[in-house]
Amino acid sequence: MAECVKTTRMHILFIGDVIGRPGRDVVAAELPMLKEKLALDFVVLNGENLAGGFGVTRATANEMFALGVDVITTGNHWMDQREILSFIDDEDRILRPRNYPAGTPGKGAGLYETRKGARVLVVNAMGRVFMDPLDDPFAAVEAELSACPLGEGADAIFVDMHAEATSEKMGMGHFCDGRASAVIGSHSHVPTADAQILPGGTAFQTDAGACADYDSVIGMEKFEPLQRFTRKMPTSRYTPAMGPATLCAVFVETGPKGLATRIEPVRVGGRLKQTIPHLEP
Ligand SMILES: [Fe+2]
Ligand SMILES: [Fe+2]
Repeated sequence: MAECVKTTRMHILFIGDVIGRPGRDVVAAELPMLKEKLALDFVVLNGENLAGGFGVTRATANEMFALGVDVITTGNHWMDQREILSFIDDEDRILRPRNYPAGTPGKGAGLYETRKGARVLVVNAMGRVFMDPLDDPFAAVEAELSACPLGEGADAIFVDMHAEATSEKMGMGHFCDGRASAVIGSHSHVPTADAQILPGGTAFQTDAGACADYDSVIGMEKFEPLQRFTRKMPTSRYTPAMGPATLCAVFVETGPKGLATRIEPVRVGGRLKQTIPHLEP
């Protein structure tokens, strides 16, 4: 069995789906401030929409790593930029959903070390309700949690549950309760107001929201989605809305056993109401 907990407290930030250049710009503008203000030990970012709103390229991933992002999770758009297939097997810091069929390139979980030497297990899963019928995400997450239990194999465990249905995301929160530090949802591109610590000690929020211009339809320039809603007639491709973006994230603090002691939403920049957790000095 691996050596146990080295750190009594850890500060983790999960940044929701980053949409195109406005999303990348707000991360570049605000993450350095958040790292300092929140004394962050570990940063996870959902990057499935990094490159023009669809997928992730080597260049856009490197841009995020250079800003201090430790791990990039993804979702249903992980393969939209086919160039990812040329590097995902050599890039440990990018995950695709764990419950793709066996043989899919890349991996869905990884164990990482913070600068202070704490070990963080990150698991990326994808829901099946109103989405592609992948393998069972609950069984996939179970396999990772059993192989690397909290407080034994890992000092903190973070699960990005990328799903359309709020019920499936909340179900995953309870499924992991007491066994993961945090389960946070992604994919819907809208932050939910239900940040809480579940009874067993797992921090949970149904969706982190996106880093996007919110004068949009879930981060996309609104003209084309409205054309399709009102006329059922596609006229052009979806492109990211290019106004100033709001960085939406979730801040989690863990305690001695790796369970959560605090969860707070973060919203900085752009149109949404601003909120940054206040840490006592
Ligand atoms: Fe997304
Ligand atoms: Fe998605």
